[in-house]
This record gives sequence, C-alpha cells and structure tokens, in this order.
Amino acid sequence: MLFDRVKSLDAILATAEKKGLHRSLGAFQLTMLGVGAVIGTGIFVLTSEAAQKAGPGMLLSFVIAGFVCAVAALCYSELASMVPVSGSAYTYTYAVMGELMAWMVGWALILEYAVGASAVAVGWSGYFVGFMGHINDFLPFIPNMTIAKEFAVGPSQGGLINLPAVVVSILVTLLLIAGTTESARFNAVLVSIKITALTLFIILTVPVMKGVEFHPFVPNGWGTIGVVGAASSIFFAYVGFDAVSTAAEETKNPQRNVPIGLIGSLAICTIFYLLVAAGAIGAIGAQPVAGVNGEVLSPGSSELAARCAAIVASGVREPLACSHEALAHVLRSVGWTKIGNLMGVAAFLALPSVVLMMMFGQTRVFFVMARDGLLPEKLASVHPRFKTPHVVTAFTGIVVTIAAAFLPVGKLADYSNSGTLFAFAMVAIAVMVLRKKDPSRHRPFRTPAIYVVAPLAIVGCVGLYLFLPFVAQMVLFGWGAIGLLIYFGYSRSRSHVGLGRSEVNELDPDAPPQPVPPLPGAHTPGGRDA
Ligand code: ALA
Repeated sequence: MLFDRVKSLDAILATAEKKGLHRSLGAFQLTMLGVGAVIGTGIFVLTSEAAQKAGPGMLLSFVIAGFVCAVAALCYSELASMVPVSGSAYTYTYAVMGELMAWMVGWALILEYAVGASAVAVGWSGYFVGFMGHINDFLPFIPNMTIAKEFAVGPSQGGLINLPAVVVSILVTLLLIAGTTESARFNAVLVSIKITALTLFIILTVPVMKGVEFHPFVPNGWGTIGVVGAASSIFFAYVGFDAVSTAAEETKNPQRNVPIGLIGSLAICTIFYLLVAAGAIGAIGAQPVAGVNGEVLSPGSSELAARCAAIVASGVREPLACSHEALAHVLRSVGWTKIGNLMGVAAFLALPSVVLMMMFGQTRVFFVMARDGLLPEKLASVHPRFKTPHVVTAFTGIVVTIAAAFLPVGKLADYSNSGTLFAFAMVAIAVMVLRKKDPSRHRPFRTPAIYVVAPLAIVGCVGLYLFLPFVAQMVLFGWGAIGLLIYFGYSRSRSHVGLGRSEVNELDPDAPPQPVPPLPGAHTPGGRDA
C-alpha cells in the first residue's frame, strides 16, 4: 500500500524525450562539470577539520571517503545511463521503489544541497577574510583590511555572525533568480583555476615533505574523533559528482558519457586530494590540537577556537587544525607567502561557483518534486521575465543564508553529509532492486559485480553515517520526521502519480510542458536551442 506508487520508467523516459533539452555535453565537458562541482570547501577548508580529528591519518580518511563515493558512483552510473533525466536520485527512486521512498530521498537531497551550499559559503568566508588581510598585494590602491572576528565567524567560534558568508549566499541567490547561469566556458575557467591552484600546492609542498610529520600517524585512533570520523566529514569533499547525473538530459550519448563523467571526475579529485593532503601533512604537520590537559577537542567547538587563539597569541605558528584557510596557510608557512595569498585568491574566485551549483541542485530537486505534485506547484512557478523558479530559489536562499550566518563549516558539512549518505545508499538499493524487477531492460552501463559493489556502497554509507557526530545523525532523523509529516499531511493526496496523471512534465495539466531550468555550467555559450 505504502510502496505501490511507482512512476513508470517508460513514462519518465518519454517525458525526457518530449522536453527535448539540447544535448550538447560530451564526456570531457561532463567530467569538467563534475570536477567543478566537487572541488571546493572540502579540500580548501575541511582539511583542517580532518587534521583535528585524524592527524596525518586523514590520508586514510580521504581514501575511505573516496572509496565509498567510488562504489556509489558505479551504482549512480547504471541508473543515470538508463534513466538519463533530471532529478537524480529522487527520480531513480521514484521509478524503482515508489513515491514514499522517492519523497524521502528528495527530502534528504535538500539537506545535501541547501545545507551543503551553506557549508561552502562559510568555507569561502574563511578565504575571503584571509584575502582581505592581503588585498594590498594584489590591488595596491586598497589597504589590507582586518575583518573583526564578531563579523567573520559564527557564535560557536567566538563571533556574532558570519557576514561574508551571508553576503555570498545572498549574491548567489540573486544571481540564480536573475537566471545567470555559468556558461560551459566560464565553468572551464573556474575548474582550471582550481586545478592550477591544487597542482601548484602539490608541486611546492611534496618536495619539502618531512617523514617525521607523519608520526604519530593515528593520534586519535579510529573513532568518531579519529580516522573514520574524519572520513565521514571529509566525505563532503567528494559530494557534487552526482551533479553530473543531473545533467544527463543535456548530454550527448549519455549512455557512454555519463558514467565517464561521474567516475572520471571522482578519480581526478581523489588523486588531487591525496596528493594535497600528503603535501599539507608533510610540509607543516597535521597533529590535532589538544586541550591544556591533553584532552581531545572537537573541530568547530568554542574550546578549540579558544585554544587556537591562545597558541597563536603565544607566538607559535598556527597549527593546520586551527586554520580557516588551510591550503593558503600551509604555503605561507613554508615560505611561499605570495603564492599562499594567490591560493586564497583562487579559493575566493572559485568557491562561489560551488555554492551556486549546490543551490541550483537544491532548487532543481524542489522543482521536480513540485512538478510531480508533491510540493505546492506555486513553489515551482517560473518568473515571467527571468524564466527561473524564483519563489523556490528565494526560499532556498533565505534558508542557506541563515544557516551560513551562524553555524561553523564543519558542522554544516556533517549535516549535509547525513542527507547525502542516505540518498547514496538508496541509489545503491535501487540499482539492485531494478536488476531484479526489470532484468531485461537495456542497461548501457552495467555496474560491475553489482552484488558486491552495491552492498559495499550501502555498508560504506551506513558506516560513515554511524561515525558522524551524534547531532548530525539526529539531523537526518529530525529532517526525515518533518518530511514524513509533510508527505502524509500534504503531498500524498496531491501527487500526480497518485491522482493517476501519467504526464509527469506539467506543472498544470492545462499548461504547456515546462522544462526544468538549465544546470549552471551545463551549456555551451549560446544556451540551449530546444
Ligand atoms: N565537494 C564540494 C566541496 O567540497 C561540495 O565544496
């Protein structure tokens, strides 16, 4: 009864055909799109958080998180190549496990995207504050500026409000409402900036690595504040590769190119992350900062912030675990001050596009859910002039801005991860269920050794979830409970599938088909021509 509302796979595919988005993306562009969505706050900022939890053992944390994402990506690839339509995990689940599970996945994706966008905004803020402190190096007519701590970080880190994070969230919201989408070329420029910055970091740090910095390798053990706990947090660094699957409708030969884009972008990011982490550890050390009595301190806590302030005040070099601009700090510490500042500029320029990507992902999921009747259709109304879903974008923007104003980056990333891990696990279940339910359907990409890979993805996601901080685990439950209330109180009775409307492409049965607005970075200049 509860799981009987399944959207027909054929109806979904027919809808995609009818919409006729221009298929302009090839494997290379798709891989770049993935790399553009993935590289962000995770590596540029959360490296400090990972160091605080795992010390040099964060190398293993990157491997564990990358492995879980790789097996999940193999599952995503099979579904994305079979069902190359918008909505990603939400749409797959709708077709395979029915409306209720799809609702839960869509609901969890909101956590992934909206809270994730806040995390990236806060991460950007750390680099912005650092950049303003060195702005004179780049713009000689502007003096260096120190942004008062009250306005640079949230309350848990001794501030009042994170103003730069608020400003960037509002700006991105306005850009999205105005319909400014990045062109593929612009995306390529930002990806090049990030890759160049990380490559330079590797070139400058790997040669000065010292073996001694890797000892002790696992100072805090393997627990929640240890290697696996760090993997659960650093998982955030890999999130975003699923954006590739949401561009499936705009991809040439998606059957071949989507799996290449998903797995290719993940492989590139993993290699960069491991080298960058090794360089950071080996260059300046990555031992966690302990309390005055040797106690373990949680990242993002006021205790850690106070201890870091005391260490810096004593004239000792700021430990990696304390820095809000980890990579820039490492380079400055090993004598490359100017390049360290440039690293700050790279993050300053490139991270807002990750905020944009995540906020866009969120509005798209909302949009598709509203199109299916599960959320008020008004939410998905499209602005007459800008042609963007302005209501849902503004709503998302407000939520993202409030979260970014007051919460620290690590906590936001952990909350986002709890939703993402749930969605990934559901995709891994869906791919196996579909193999059983519809074994003869054409599968352009088959997940290799599916009955090993998919269970590994599920175990990996559940495992990482269990090593998230308790509050982050509870966020998924609390959010899920709210979602269930809304589903049974509102959505179930209004669902288009429940009402027997097989046409899934209309906001209003009398209105002309309404395409999903385009994905940022997914278009060649000139836009789509459909
Ligand atoms: N993976 C993205 C980042 O690290 C979300 O910012």
